[in-house]
Amino acid sequence: MDTLLVTGGAGFIGANFVRWLMDQTAVRVTVLDKLTYAGNRDSLAGLPGDRVEFVRGDVCDAELVERLVAGVDAVVHFAAESHNDNSLNDPSPFIQTNLVGTYTLLQAVRRHGVRYHHISTDEVYGDLELDVPTRFTEATPYNPSSPYSASKAGSDLLVRAWVRSFDVQATLSNCSNNYGPYQHIEKFIPRQITNVLCGLRPKLYGSGANVRDWIHVDDHNEAVWTILNRGQIGQTYLIGADGERDNRQVIEDILTLLGRPSDDYDLVADRPGHDLRYAIDSTKLRQELGWSPRYPSFQQGLAATIEWYRQHEDWWRPAKEATEAKYAQQGQ
Ligand code: NAD
Ligand code: TYD
Repeated sequence: MDTLLVTGGAGFIGANFVRWLMDQTAVRVTVLDKLTYAGNRDSLAGLPGDRVEFVRGDVCDAELVERLVAGVDAVVHFAAESHNDNSLNDPSPFIQTNLVGTYTLLQAVRRHGVRYHHISTDEVYGDLELDVPTRFTEATPYNPSSPYSASKAGSDLLVRAWVRSFDVQATLSNCSNNYGPYQHIEKFIPRQITNVLCGLRPKLYGSGANVRDWIHVDDHNEAVWTILNRGQIGQTYLIGADGERDNRQVIEDILTLLGRPSDDYDLVADRPGHDLRYAIDSTKLRQELGWSPRYPSFQQGLAATIEWYRQHEDWWRPAKEATEAKYAQQGQ
């Protein structure tokens, strides 16, 4: 595999994926990204110009997608509208990008016989009860809760149908919550870090008992590369690093690591339909493809992430005011 088309490569996970590829492989990459509010050209700054080409465009643009897909060995599809809270306010771009965009890519890879990897989320499975040992597996039935997770579930099902009906050479992965550098500050962890750095109090939805299963973005991306190279066509792999934590714990950790009292946060309005708990059983990926996470612990990864936001204020500061203004309108 010499050339890849990476959609959404100016977003959080996509940009980290491109950076990881530059460090760990010899592939050349074309990034296709619309640069929505969530995309940032600066997230790709400093990468070698002879190995990374950037194309600003929409995954729903069939003509452009056709041309780009024709010139690569594989497509890794990260581009999406990705934030649950936004999907509750206005679902329409989620339907367009996540469903129509995936359909557009599938038609192009079908025509050109190009390998395709589909990036998805564990949120397609709905949520789990608190305080039970159950975790999601590849056999868990789809049961999405929000417009975001429903649009991702729909896109996954399109991929499965294109594999079965048209022999598209695709794999899928559903990963748990990622953290790390270059994550938009609307998301939970960077929002709280940048709040503290700005002298604002972190904001905890509802009671804060909701549990997320955290994985460092580099561990996710190494798993994606593993699946792209060694995964079985038509198969789904769950990606997770056994990182369950409730939201209250995470906020307390952030405050402590930043030298603030651990109770210096606000309880704010809960998210409608807020999923209680996510947890991934990644046995299939570990046993069949030999992947395991490298990041030693969530605590160390969180400390490194805090340090990154501390040192990259120029990257996040321009978005802070507008992001908080949007939350303030929602009482969050
Ligand atoms: P993000 O919102 O940070 O980035 C999305 C990128 O896609 C942005 O650069 C944006 O400009 C681009 N984009 C949006 N619409 C587009 C369009 N129509 N055409 C071209 N580009 C477009 O998202 P992320 O957190 O990096 O998530 C990437 C993928 O990983 C998504 O598919 C998401 O569902 C999935 N995922 C995310 C997480 C997580 O914790 N963030 C966990 C599991 C799966
Ligand atoms: P988020 O980063 O939006 O990811 P997801 O909805 O995909 O899990 O939120 C992670 C968790 O943090 C989720 O339970 C909602 C909660 N949350 C807060 O408590 N406060 C906040 O300011 C945000 C943005 C999220």
